[in-house]
Amino acid sequence: MHQIRVRGGRPLRGIIPISGAKNAALPLMAACLLSCKPVNLSNVPDVADIASMTNLLREHGVRIERDGGDMTMNAAQVESTTAPYDLVRKMRASVLVLGPLVARFGKAQVSLPGGCAIGNRPIDLHLKGLADLGAELSIEDGYIEAKAPKGRLQCGRFTFPFVSVGATENLMMAASLAQGETVLINSAREPEISDLAKLLVAMGAEIEGAGSDTIYIQGKSELGGATHRVVADRIETGTYAMAVAIVGTEVILSNTDLLLINATAKTLRQAGVTLETVEGGVRVSRGDEPVLGVDMMTEPYPGFPTDLQAQFMSLMSVSRGKSMVTETIFDNRFMHVQELSRMGANITVHEASAIIRGVEKLKGAQVIATDLRASVSLVLAGLVAEGETIIDRIYHLDRGYQDLIGKLSACGADVSKIVSG
Ligand code: UD1
Repeated sequence: MHQIRVRGGRPLRGIIPISGAKNAALPLMAACLLSCKPVNLSNVPDVADIASMTNLLREHGVRIERDGGDMTMNAAQVESTTAPYDLVRKMRASVLVLGPLVARFGKAQVSLPGGCAIGNRPIDLHLKGLADLGAELSIEDGYIEAKAPKGRLQCGRFTFPFVSVGATENLMMAASLAQGETVLINSAREPEISDLAKLLVAMGAEIEGAGSDTIYIQGKSELGGATHRVVADRIETGTYAMAVAIVGTEVILSNTDLLLINATAKTLRQAGVTLETVEGGVRVSRGDEPVLGVDMMTEPYPGFPTDLQAQFMSLMSVSRGKSMVTETIFDNRFMHVQELSRMGANITVHEASAIIRGVEKLKGAQVIATDLRASVSLVLAGLVAEGETIIDRIYHLDRGYQDLIGKLSACGADVSKIVSG
């Protein structure tokens, strides 16, 4: 199994190009199922989750061509409306094909996603919302069977009891082909939702309010093709901003926008990190002074993202002072704590909160990556740790970070892949 080796203590200096957001690209790809016309995307990141979605869409009969960041998808000849277990279990976001399939073809069979490392992640809101649009749903042999009576979904008025990014996306796509006007209340406001709405509008959908908590969707009987550029990855942006914060000096994050990481930038500034907009990107710098301990709580957008919580905890591990990190989105999202502790971090977890007492130094160790964001938090810790850190199970990183090693190495980090077996 491959590993990553990080030798710590080298400051970062240079330019890191930020890729398109995989969490935007996944629903954008699923949206191609809504039309028989081609959908072209640019700035698609080259990561394993995108390959998983490509395989799933091909299984349905979508023709996909890829050239670097450009992707053309043509769902003119969908042969199967079944999303099989073998593909869905690899990536929970596969459930995003459910709404588009049932909306366009009046039926879909999507495997239940199964277990997940970061807590219990049900899809009940996706199903309740689709039922609100008139879908008849049942669970048969581990599969969600969805049908639209008379072949077409109806409009609905659905209030999310709490914010769900994926359920908002699924319902927005489904409602785009439903009959009449759907209103989604207490919707997610993430930039990935606005990005999906932009594509759907370019395909001919009528959508208002995406990016706010109430979205109005006027369903159309069919949608056309479109061309769209995937928004920059705000989680990748925040991750590299924290890499600079943890080890120091100055990096330009190009092809991204400070506005995408407002809450993160505010927290990092409180910790003593400088972030400013420059042409085409963001400059991040931190001098010789260690960062200060700052409290943080994860929240739905525009709050501090849960997908940056683990990285922030690595940063706080070497802060001057104390900080409290509270995770409000997922249960069981502190699996990195045990590994950070093995590197010398002083962290006490009590239910959804962790108290981090900053230490002067972390020490390199052999650690295990448990999920995508936890893995990268260990890389960040390795950047500042004394000696060598070896990270196992790095396939998690490939799911969401394009060329992590190349991007960090180009800025002076000593990070490499150990290929074995
Ligand atoms: C998306 C992101 C993920 C991010 C998360 C929260 C993608 C592909 N993934 O995941 O990286 O961490 O948003 O910002 O975009 N929930 C239910 N029932 C549901 C749906 C969700 O109980 O039907 C719960 C989840 O278990 C979780 C919370 O709601 O506790 C938020 O989840 P959600 O926003 O849906 O996350 P995802 O869309 O799966």
